[in-house]
Amino acid sequence: MEKALQYLEDQYSRFLNELFELLSIPSISAQKEHADDVRKAAEWVCSHLRNIGLTASVYETGGHPLAYGEWRGAPGQPTILFYGHIDVQPVEPLEEWESPPFEPTIRDGNIYCRGASDDKGQLFTHLKAIEAWLRTYGSLPVNVKFLIEGEEEIGSPSLPSWLEKNRSLVQADTVVISDTAQFARGYPSLCTGLRGIAAFEIEVRTAQADLHSGSFGGAIPNAIEVLTRILAQLHDPEGRVAVPGFYDEVEEPSQEEKSSWANLPFDEKEFLATAGAKATWGEPDRTILERIWTRPTLEFVGITGGHQGQGHKGIVPARALAKCSARLVPQQNPANVLEAIRKHVEKLCPPYAEVNFRAGHGTPAVRVPPDSIWVTAAIRALEQGFGCKPVFIREGGSISIVTRFMKDLSMPCLLLGFGLPDDRIHSPNEKFSVEDFRSGMRTSAALLAFIHEMSQRR
Ligand code: BES
Ligand code: MN
Ligand code: MN
Repeated sequence: MEKALQYLEDQYSRFLNELFELLSIPSISAQKEHADDVRKAAEWVCSHLRNIGLTASVYETGGHPLAYGEWRGAPGQPTILFYGHIDVQPVEPLEEWESPPFEPTIRDGNIYCRGASDDKGQLFTHLKAIEAWLRTYGSLPVNVKFLIEGEEEIGSPSLPSWLEKNRSLVQADTVVISDTAQFARGYPSLCTGLRGIAAFEIEVRTAQADLHSGSFGGAIPNAIEVLTRILAQLHDPEGRVAVPGFYDEVEEPSQEEKSSWANLPFDEKEFLATAGAKATWGEPDRTILERIWTRPTLEFVGITGGHQGQGHKGIVPARALAKCSARLVPQQNPANVLEAIRKHVEKLCPPYAEVNFRAGHGTPAVRVPPDSIWVTAAIRALEQGFGCKPVFIREGGSISIVTRFMKDLSMPCLLLGFGLPDDRIHSPNEKFSVEDFRSGMRTSAALLAFIHEMSQRR
């Protein structure tokens, strides 16, 4: 692999310019007006896959399109499927960005741009590693496939049925995903678990229409008052979720896992500084890492109702809405959790109001078994790429399609995150460190060699 690693070293400033082209496309999947940009990003990735020597096409999914490519010139060798996403989160609030969200800018060794870390910069490391192998050796030590989708940030609604129809196309021995973070600078990480998620909305109605608060206020129920009273009862004052049955299916991490996490240098002050918060919150009898990695949550994501425009308005709002989501942990079933919340919310709603509970997208948590040849190869690759031994961590975020890869297609997944916890993904001033970009490329190039080597020994 030496020649490939040298190529990566020699060419990385060109790679940055190429990445900047992809980063400049405002491929926000949640906003209809950006649908053409998501398509443009899929087409860009497709033509880039072709340029580096793969066959590739853009596939329609019914929603945003995806880019698929492959190189299968190593018969008898394992096949790696690289999964990533070219869609990004919305950028508001705009005024908080120090440089425009879709004008990639380098400051203090970081690439600032929406999508720099989540996930364009991370997925690009794999394209460049493949290019390096093909340009220097003319071939790869393993077969590779790329599945780069455009709907991850909206819960991958079209991908499951596309996968169902294209099972044999994507079938691989292992899936490699770089869409998580390292534990900290100097602690390259292998992620062994992601939380799942279940989204839902709670809508309250108290009257036909908003009413004059002079003529009706104090005598007719107010939808915002009813909704916020319901919401306020979903947690106890210390931070536990107060929905009966909410924790029923939760699996505790093993003692072994817990004690390995106790050795990680978790710095609460730094964590608070990254969040810009005064104090931590949540289940008092759990460490911060346990709260994020192993405990389910119930979050309020947004709340609307009544008058939101300029000035004042004298009304009793007839309708109020809360958008919410629950992060899920191993063994929790999204449908069961949503049902428990629905029951409780309906019970909490007073008879003079109407509550409408709407379930949204849901995906269970995933675990990656830490003892496989894939994990062993990944540990060696991370050490090669980052220059020190990786640690095992979990993450609190979710990647919807991973559970489908593991359960429906029986493909083991490797979560090799190259980002950092302070990359501000989903926030203003998202960044990705140039150093991590380079370490990620080296890791990927080494991974191909080590997977080849380990499978020879099997
Ligand atoms: N890359 C993230 C997932 C992630 C976040 C992993 C933080 C590790 C730490 C991914 O792009 C993401 O944002 N996922 C969504 C999924 C949702 C839309 C179903 C999430 O976690 O909210
Ligand atoms: Mn992501
Ligand atoms: Mn994301």
